[in-house]
Amino acid sequence: MRFVLEETPADQTSCDLLALPVLEPGSLQGEAAEVDRAVGGRLGSMAKAEGFTGKPDRTVLLFSPEAKARWVLLVGCGAEATPERLRRYAAVAVRRARDLRASRVALAPGTAGATPEETVRAVVEGAGLGTYRFDRYHKAEDGAEVAEVVLLIRGAGRDALAPAVRVGEATVRATRRARDLVNEPANVMTPSALAGVAKEVAAAGGLEYRVIELAEARAMGMGLFAAVAQGSAEPPKFIVLEYRPDGASRTIALAGKGVTFDSGGLSIKTASGMTHMKGDMAGAAAVIAAMGALRDLAVSVRVLGIAPATENMIGSAAVRPGDIVRGLGGKTVEIVNTDAEGRLVLADAIAYAVRAGVDEIIDLATLTGSCVVALGERTAGLMGNNQPLLDRLLNAAGLAGEQLWQLPLYDEFLDAMRGEVADLKNSAGREGGAERAAAFLGEFAGTTAWAHLDIAGPAFAEGSRFPPYITAGGTGYGVRTLLRYLASAR
Ligand code: BES
Ligand code: MN
Ligand code: ZN
Repeated sequence: MRFVLEETPADQTSCDLLALPVLEPGSLQGEAAEVDRAVGGRLGSMAKAEGFTGKPDRTVLLFSPEAKARWVLLVGCGAEATPERLRRYAAVAVRRARDLRASRVALAPGTAGATPEETVRAVVEGAGLGTYRFDRYHKAEDGAEVAEVVLLIRGAGRDALAPAVRVGEATVRATRRARDLVNEPANVMTPSALAGVAKEVAAAGGLEYRVIELAEARAMGMGLFAAVAQGSAEPPKFIVLEYRPDGASRTIALAGKGVTFDSGGLSIKTASGMTHMKGDMAGAAAVIAAMGALRDLAVSVRVLGIAPATENMIGSAAVRPGDIVRGLGGKTVEIVNTDAEGRLVLADAIAYAVRAGVDEIIDLATLTGSCVVALGERTAGLMGNNQPLLDRLLNAAGLAGEQLWQLPLYDEFLDAMRGEVADLKNSAGREGGAERAAAFLGEFAGTTAWAHLDIAGPAFAEGSRFPPYITAGGTGYGVRTLLRYLASAR
């Protein structure tokens, strides 16, 4: 899908489908009114006849072969054309265009609700993410891909907005890549395959790539990562990417949980609890995909991307409940529940980042069902040891349009994780499950500034209503927040 900026008025733009955002209460103003005049008032009368009031994502479609646009689509945007509403508007428009086999689509978002740059980014994101499909194994028969999206930006200046288009496109590419990685089944997206993708991302994005194999990980002292891996026939891969721009003064580490399939191990999950566990590497997917966009976004800090990748299986060598293992950095852990494996692989990843001397660590993990119970399936939980860092991430998530909510890290959560026979135990009952998991991770971050995003809910979309730019399956959650954050980091 190509994006082009044009300054022509909406009613004079040749295209297959022209989509216009309409605010509540649904009266046609500005460009919509001009287009309505051009089609003899039929848009307005249709909207009235259908009871269209501009409610978010509601539409009115007019076939107008005599006009410059073959179809005109009104898209409700609610009370205010915020970037989030525009993201949804663009997704609704291009999806409808695909169904109609409209190849050239014109979007006229206006710039009333946001700056021209934010408007362009939101619309590119909505269009690029809303048309995502995972069709490698089963080609969808309906619709045809939209070839060109024309962004009508009267008065704002094409040259001035071209960079915003490029930023939007880079964000879309990275998010779509993260979705692909999550959607690939676990028999395909093994730790080795994930490492292969990371290598390609590194080559294309100017990154250094390194993978630490099991024997070396063990020798280094990463006993927690190794313990999770030992029940699987698939060799684990501790993947490290590095982005090193000239003149960087600070280093930020991203660590993503890369459990390519989580059976629960010997503390095995139920059949229904296991259905989407190919997505348990969504944190790693977000990290690897985001790393690939850093050069495009001219990020100015050094970034270390860490993705410990392994399965959690039940082979005869599998770790047993009650086993005690030592992690990188020396702490011992009693593995009382082998299904609390994410915190084990991440603990070694966080300790690795601390050893590398980074200035701050951000981890993303599909870590706990508790977080989904607490916040629902669309919101990630945020915890950490440095409030200014958490505040910056909350701000980045708000701009990116990803729902993120802070949970507390009281001392009692860490107290619950202290072991009877080891320094720590990896599980301690259901109360405060997300916070306790985070408290466990915090022990490995020590005094390094650290933030943890529990993305167990929003990493995977199914069932309940998600906005139209979120497609079923992997969502790529976290990529947009990370890129917003890193692009403004100094
Ligand atoms: N990968 C799961 C968490 C998860 C659950 C992700 C649902 C996405 C959807 C994680 O490894 C896990 O099993 N966590 C346990 C922890 C418990 C044993 C302390 C959980 O949440 O039940
Ligand atoms: Mn688990
Ligand atoms: Zn897991």
